[in-house]
Amino acid sequence: VKLYTIDGVANSKELLYKLLNERDVNISSREMLSWDYHCAFVDSSPYEEWYILVSDEGYAVGAMYLTRMNEIGVQIFKAAQRKGYARAALSHLMERHKGKRLLANINPMDEPSIKLFVSMGFSIIQVTMGYSCDH
Ligand SMILES: CC(C)(COP(=O)(O)OP(=O)(O)OC[C@H]1O[C@@H](n2cnc3c(N)ncnc32)[C@H](O)[C@@H]1OP(=O)(O)O)[C@@H](O)C(=O)NCCC(=O)NCCS
Repeated sequence: VKLYTIDGVANSKELLYKLLNERDVNISSREMLSWDYHCAFVDSSPYEEWYILVSDEGYAVGAMYLTRMNEIGVQIFKAAQRKGYARAALSHLMERHKGKRLLANINPMDEPSIKLFVSMGFSIIQVTMGYSCDH
């Protein structure tokens, strides 16, 4: 898999929006983000690094980012899952940031992501608790 910075991909905003729509973890509690809000978020350069993942055949298969606090996020289009793209993309990122302590915040219901990161040598170091004050 190849990593293209989002600035180098013409339709990266559309691809990232499509990925956002595919997220099923927590979907009930999450309002679908408007296109305008999404574009403003992307334009705000929220992450240290943000990539569109492209297969050897030239198809966009997902995206991956690294925050300024070294937190990784990776998502693969449903149609392209279980083909090794996330593992390959993570390997690239880990190689590029050798020696750094990398983190990933994962929903405990997201078993595929947990298995992915554990298989790459990550371990659980913290459990984040949440409470909504508006009920
Ligand atoms: C988790 C995710 C990134 C994995 O991507 P992928 O390209 O399909 O993963 P890979 O093919 O590289 O698989 C690597 C390992 O991950 C684990 N894994 C991936 N999908 C899995 C699934 N459905 N169930 C269990 N384990 C899974 C396995 O350990 C797998 O290794 P194996 O195939 O040798 O068993 C992908 O399923 C995804 O994008 N899910 C949605 C996550 C999301 O919404 N995140 C929020 C945004 S940050």
